[in-house]
Amino acid sequence: MKNLVVATGNQGKLDEIREYLEGLNWNLQLKPKDLEVEETGDSFMANACLKASVVAQALGEWAIGDDSGLMVDALDGSPGIYSSRYEATDSKRIERLLRELGNSENRRGKFVCAVAVARPDGSIVLEAEGVCQGEITRSPRGKNGFGYDPIFYVPQYQQTFAEMKADLKRKISHRGLAFTNLLAQFRNLDESEK
Ligand code: IMP
Repeated sequence: MKNLVVATGNQGKLDEIREYLEGLNWNLQLKPKDLEVEETGDSFMANACLKASVVAQALGEWAIGDDSGLMVDALDGSPGIYSSRYEATDSKRIERLLRELGNSENRRGKFVCAVAVARPDGSIVLEAEGVCQGEITRSPRGKNGFGYDPIFYVPQYQQTFAEMKADLKRKISHRGLAFTNLLAQFRNLDESEK
């Protein structure tokens, strides 16, 4: 079984990706802590590719990278690729976003997730993206999840991400959709490539 290094230092993310890619014949591993990758790309996909490529090349192993964030229409797509760097903590990030959006009637926003897989030489072999459309609430609602979940409302389910059960969020979220898309491509990956 081939190794696939997940370009993250976060065990939680490794566990989540392991669930998404269940059934594939790959041995998922966490990247070494001292191998840092700076997110210098100008898009989610550029950052996902960068993470996968740098880690793959440094270790001479297959690697997978992802990047995600929230884009708010009335804020011209902010915080976007800066979602995790927008403020120091989740509650401060939410506070700032609600403050900047103010009383705007246009509450539309979307979560985006990009995922990329690199061969051991660093070249990118697979790319997938998932988008989940929703609306930004006027105040936080719900206790589940993380990040911007309490202010991201999905009209179809009449719940914020933080009010949803984890398995529903997993199915309809940007990350869930990106990995469903990636899984299909993984299955088609030429046997000789692996
Ligand atoms: P990264 O993809 O680990 O770089 O993180 C991107 C940032 O976007 C996170 O720190 C969160 O602030 C935000 N984010 C990404 N996905 C979600 C989500 O599913 N719920 C809430 N916030 C998210």
